[in-house]
Amino acid sequence: MPAEPPPAALLDEAERMDPGAMRALQHERLAATLRHAYANVPHYRRAFDAAGVTPDDFRDLPDIARFPFTTKADLRDNYPFGMFAVPMEEVARIHASSGTTGKPTVVGYTKSDIEVWSSLVARSIRASGGRPGMMVHVAYGYGLFTGGLGAHYGAEAMGCTVVPVSGGMTERQVQLIEDFRPDIIMVTPSYMLALLDEFRRQGKDPRATSLKIGIFGAEPWTEAMRAQIEDAFGIHAVDIYGLSEVMGPGVANECVETKDGPHVWEDHFYPEIVDPETGAPVPDGEPGELVFTSLTKQAMPVIRYRTRDLTRLLPGTARPAFRRMQKITGRSDDMIILRGVNLFPSQVEEQILRVPHLAPHYQLILTREGPMDSMTIAVECEPGTDEAERAGAAKALAHHVKAMIGVSARIELRDPGAIERSVGKARRVVDRRPKA
Ligand code: DLL
Repeated sequence: MPAEPPPAALLDEAERMDPGAMRALQHERLAATLRHAYANVPHYRRAFDAAGVTPDDFRDLPDIARFPFTTKADLRDNYPFGMFAVPMEEVARIHASSGTTGKPTVVGYTKSDIEVWSSLVARSIRASGGRPGMMVHVAYGYGLFTGGLGAHYGAEAMGCTVVPVSGGMTERQVQLIEDFRPDIIMVTPSYMLALLDEFRRQGKDPRATSLKIGIFGAEPWTEAMRAQIEDAFGIHAVDIYGLSEVMGPGVANECVETKDGPHVWEDHFYPEIVDPETGAPVPDGEPGELVFTSLTKQAMPVIRYRTRDLTRLLPGTARPAFRRMQKITGRSDDMIILRGVNLFPSQVEEQILRVPHLAPHYQLILTREGPMDSMTIAVECEPGTDEAERAGAAKALAHHVKAMIGVSARIELRDPGAIERSVGKARRVVDRRPKA
């Protein structure tokens, strides 16, 4: 299936900038954001003062490293609205991300923030191959999660017809895809796999749908998963990245013609990579933790927000004005340290997808027996797998995991449908180790 880049006339002005002009724009917007945050958010005033910096100390782009980081804990400490930089009357919308424990992280948007966000999701849909007039099935959750409404407003801004399905009711999702004939689906990759199962359960051919493009994000997914989804549905599978604290979906998006990692929409977000241990900036190309400063947000500017996502910055390809991030393989929070070996669920996913008869529904269960941690990989087999094939698949997976990742894991083969399905982000790690 050919993946055509959009005609130049459809691109935003920023997408056609040369990198020098982009840096100048970022410089101007960063200076304004630092002033806005310092003047209007008590947290930033205190944090800058404690670090001995003022917005006047920002003279050149690398000076950003002199400013303090912002973490999720800072957002929690200022719950619910303490990070807002405008009066509540100017806040047009609130979203929140439900952390695993305690209070959610709350974010706010002015009307103009929502317009910028919508335009960036529209740009992301266009980069993914979408065009005005196409129909978009949005299966990201609607509500406080930014996925559903973020995708929805972007698809509308793009001039698409939006079907706001939200997550869940899998059987009905399949029916709506068949009956409405959408061109694009926006959904988490793990829920796309649940839809795939449902197509097969109903005896319907997933390659026969009207879908041409899937825009997948909100959780890590591997190249192997991309290949599997593209093949199963006969679509282009494109990566969309974002996080609520920085905006929501559409902070970065892959271009369908290259599929080589999301381009960061740098006219609105300034990315840095830092050493996750020391916080020191690392040069482009080196791996580390992604940090963002918003460049245009009014209601809730964020300065050097530590995403905990691990990646590296690479030069732009399909859109040379922007740098790319390598497809995210994991978050520092999801890193498992097993008998001295660091690993991410995505590495196990890659190995699962190599083994015939295994389905990409899996969970990693961590337990402690005596002083040692152990990991069980619970993974489903495909329908119709016989005993001998199951045994062979388990053996092959244990072997690949040992050879490629360097850890011994117990493999538990489960029947089709036995692993918990989520309608949004999948839960890949189940930690049953006693709490320290
Ligand atoms: O997940 C926003 C979003 C919605 C992005 C829909 C894409 C599509 P949060 O719930 O705040 O926001 O979670 C943000 O999800 O820090 C990453 O760890 C992870 N994440 C998001 N997109 C990707 C992706 C939304 N494409 C957190 N690849 C981020 C890997 C992703 N991880």
